Amino acid sequence: MAVDLLLGLQWGDEGKGKIVDVLTSKYNIIARFQGGPNAGHTLVFNGKKHVLHTIPSGIFHDEATNLVGNGVVIDPVIFKKELDKLEEQDVDYRKSLLISRKAHIILPTHRLLDAASEASKGKAKIGSTLKGIGPTYMDKTGRNGLRVGDLELDTWKDKYRALADKHESMIDFYNVDIQYDLKELETEFFAAVKVLKSLKFIDSEEYIYQAQKSGQSILAEGAQGSLLDIDFGTYPFVTSSNTTAAGACTGLGVAPNQIGEVFGIFKAYTTRVGSGPFPTELFDEVGETMGRVGHEFGATTGRARRCGWLDLVALKYACQVNGVTQLMMMKADVLSGFKNLKVATAYKYKGETITHLPYNIEPENVEPIYTDFKGWKEDLTQMSDQSTLPKELNDYIAFLEKELEIPITIVSVGPDRKQTIFR
Ligand code: GDP
Ligand code: IMO
Ligand code: MG
Repeated sequence: MAVDLLLGLQWGDEGKGKIVDVLTSKYNIIARFQGGPNAGHTLVFNGKKHVLHTIPSGIFHDEATNLVGNGVVIDPVIFKKELDKLEEQDVDYRKSLLISRKAHIILPTHRLLDAASEASKGKAKIGSTLKGIGPTYMDKTGRNGLRVGDLELDTWKDKYRALADKHESMIDFYNVDIQYDLKELETEFFAAVKVLKSLKFIDSEEYIYQAQKSGQSILAEGAQGSLLDIDFGTYPFVTSSNTTAAGACTGLGVAPNQIGEVFGIFKAYTTRVGSGPFPTELFDEVGETMGRVGHEFGATTGRARRCGWLDLVALKYACQVNGVTQLMMMKADVLSGFKNLKVATAYKYKGETITHLPYNIEPENVEPIYTDFKGWKEDLTQMSDQSTLPKELNDYIAFLEKELEIPITIVSVGPDRKQTIFR
């Protein structure tokens, strides 16, 4: 059976966690394929909010198997905290949570290196979540990394020591003021590794192959968003993995011809957290209202998210790169009450009007050209059927579907599982 993908089409935080949770009942396996604890995926049900970082968003469903794929980077310390929270909720994860032996481990020194790198950049900093993501993927591609499978070897602590020592000299090289107590960090790390080792490690590509062969349904859960992709995002203000569809192939070992549906998730407007260009960003009270009504604060770092209008130029690009087959529009409820809405449908770039995403999208290079829409007044949060959606929202949706040539099959009208309208 083909593997379906669910991906963020903007700069992350589109609502992936919510929709994976909503869709999990249709799948046997939910698999994360990239990223790590830089992700914060929020699920809301039965009046409670849950935030997951590394663990797939299907974990609250008893019947589903949740797999952390080889493309993911795992911080045992954060992973343990996630497990502790699940235990508090009486979630029996032991039988349903599987971890790829080929996933890389985030060391405490990776986190320190992240902080040192950011500090050394000054104003040009990426705005990283400081979870050690960049340094861990650098060690992966540099062929120095420590993997989950290594933890099964007697020699893993030697490998750890050699890498951590190397990191310490690299931190010194940055020559920035980073205070840390490595002994303390290591005590926490080793205790967390012990917990991690009590879980089931598997050869996940083989597991996925056999699962597909036996007809099990698999949903691959993306982290971050397409505009944070290491290749196709707004480099260097990106994360260090391929967040786009191809990342699911390398991050799980799924062959390209085995990909089925590609669900692309986007907010009805745009947000970004961290540094980097954002052509439709608003600095006025409209942007402030989006942030306030949409509670736009990072689920991992608590930082305020920058807000702006929907950028169709960027969205089209993300749909192309991912081969999106179905769209899901999130947070439509947040736009209720705006008199007028705008969507960027083109950019002014070097004196010309263009409709593709150019190499440079810094404010000095592009100016968005907007199409105006009439807003709607109705509160959407209690609506459960598409027939009740206001005409102005239907017009907004119809315009996007026509421009993107992809159906919008879900409209989300609130954070709760139940606030989901299928079309
Ligand atoms: P993810 O990283 O893509 O899983 O998204 P996050 O969880 O980081 O951010 C999405 C935020 O929006 C969370 O606080 C969700 O609870 C919330 N959310 C998701 N869908 C909706 C929606 O349709 N309306 C509103 N108002 N909030 C939503
Ligand atoms: P989810 O899965 C939003 C951003 C950071 C920073 C840049 C690099 O919740 O959508 P990193 O820690 O990866 O080195 O940070 O990427 N970023 C995210 N923004 N949602 C995320 O994940 C993000 N993960 C990383 O803010 O700008
Ligand atoms: Mg998030």
